Amino acid sequence: MTGSRQPHAMLPELTAGDRSRQTAIVALRRFLNGNLRARNLQNFEREAVPAFETAHGRKPQSHEEVEAAFHQSPSYRLWSSLNRAAQEVLWIAVGEPIFRAEAELQAKYDKLAGNPAKRGSLHLNPKLDGVGRVATLDIHLQPGGYTLDRGDKDVIAGALYEMGGRVFSSGQGIGTGDSKAGCIIQFLRQRDPGFAPRRILDIGCSAGAASCEYAREFPDAEVHAVDIGAGMLRYAHARAEALGLPVAFHQMSAASLDFPDRHFDLVVSHNTMHEIDDDVRVAMLRESFRLLTPGGVAVHQDVPYRFRELSVPAQVEKSWDVRFNNEAFWVKYATADVVAELKQAGFAADAVEEHLLPKLNGPGAWYAAVARKS
Ligand SMILES: C[S@@+](CC[C@H](N)C(=O)[O-])C[C@H]1O[C@@H](n2cnc3c(N)ncnc32)[C@H](O)[C@@H]1O
Repeated sequence: MTGSRQPHAMLPELTAGDRSRQTAIVALRRFLNGNLRARNLQNFEREAVPAFETAHGRKPQSHEEVEAAFHQSPSYRLWSSLNRAAQEVLWIAVGEPIFRAEAELQAKYDKLAGNPAKRGSLHLNPKLDGVGRVATLDIHLQPGGYTLDRGDKDVIAGALYEMGGRVFSSGQGIGTGDSKAGCIIQFLRQRDPGFAPRRILDIGCSAGAASCEYAREFPDAEVHAVDIGAGMLRYAHARAEALGLPVAFHQMSAASLDFPDRHFDLVVSHNTMHEIDDDVRVAMLRESFRLLTPGGVAVHQDVPYRFRELSVPAQVEKSWDVRFNNEAFWVKYATADVVAELKQAGFAADAVEEHLLPKLNGPGAWYAAVARKS
C-alpha cells in the first residue's frame, strides 16, 4: 500500500454507521463525477445554447455569457446542486468521527510529539504572517479551512484533510493504491535509476502523506516539509512519528522559505499550486530555484487542467469549483504558464519540462512541471 493510504494511529476509528455514510458518499460522488459530469458539455449544447439563443438571438461567446448559459440548463443546475450537496455531506460524514475522537487524537498527538526518542521534529511559528487570502477561505468547503487551529494540541485540520481526501479521491474513482508522491518517485527513478537525493523539501505538505512517502522511499535522505497550517502540521508530525518516519515539519510560507541557498537536491509540491495565489506560486517557484543544489530537481505536481487546451465551455465547466467549492485559485493555476514562470525563476530554458504522468491507480494523469538546476 502506498504512503498516502497507509493506515496509521492518527486515523480516527470508524463505526459501521460512519463507514456506510462515507461509502454512500463515495457512490454518489462517483455517479456525479463520472456518468453525470461527462454529460455537462452535451447538456450545454442541448439545453443552454438554445435557451441563450432564444433570449439573445445569438450563441453565447464570452466566458461570462457561457457561464450564464450553463445556468439555464436544468440538467446542469441539477448536477451542480447535487455536487455541492455531496461536498457538504462529505464533510459531515468525515467530521463526525473526527470531532467525536477529538480528545483521543489530542492525547495521541501529545504522546507521539512528546516522545523523547521520536525521529522527526515539528517547528511551529505562531507569528507566521503574509499567507494571504488562503487563511480566510474554507477551500473545498473544509470546515475551518487549512489554517484551523483550536489550541496547542489541535490536529483537526490535518485529520479532516486526510479523511476528507480519502473519501473525495475514492469518489473521483481513484483507488487506494494511488499516490501522487508515488507517481513522481516512479517518474524520477525511471529518468535516473541512481537518483538519491540527500535533502528533500515538500512544500504545502498538509497532512503529510507525500512527506512520509519520500521519507520511506529515500531512507538516507533528510526530509523537510512545510505548510502554513499549525493543525495540519501537528497531525502530519504525529502521523510520521506513528509510522516511524523521520520528517522535519515547519510552519512556513511557500513564498518565503527559511532555509539556506542550495540546501536541497529535490524540491516538490503536490497539489499545492492550485491552492495558492499567483504571487505565492511565482515566489514558490523562485524559492525552488534558490533552494536547489546544482543538478537538483524541482517537481511541482498538480491536477492536469491547463485551460489553454480547452474550449470556452469546457473551461467554464471545469471552473465549477471556483464558484461552488471555494477553490479561489483554481483558474489562476489552470491559466498560468508554469514553464515560463520556472524560467523566470532562474531555470535554464532547456531544463524545464511539462509532463502528464498516469496515476498509479485511477483514471487520468497528474500534471508535473519538472525543472533541473544546471
Ligand atoms: C491541496 S493541499 C496539499 C496536499 C498535499 N501536498 C498532499 O499531497 O496531500 C494544499 C496545502 O497547501 C497549503 N498552503 C496554502 N498556502 C500555502 C503557503 N503559502 N505556503 C505553504 N503551504 C501553503 C495548505 O495549507 C494546504 O495544506
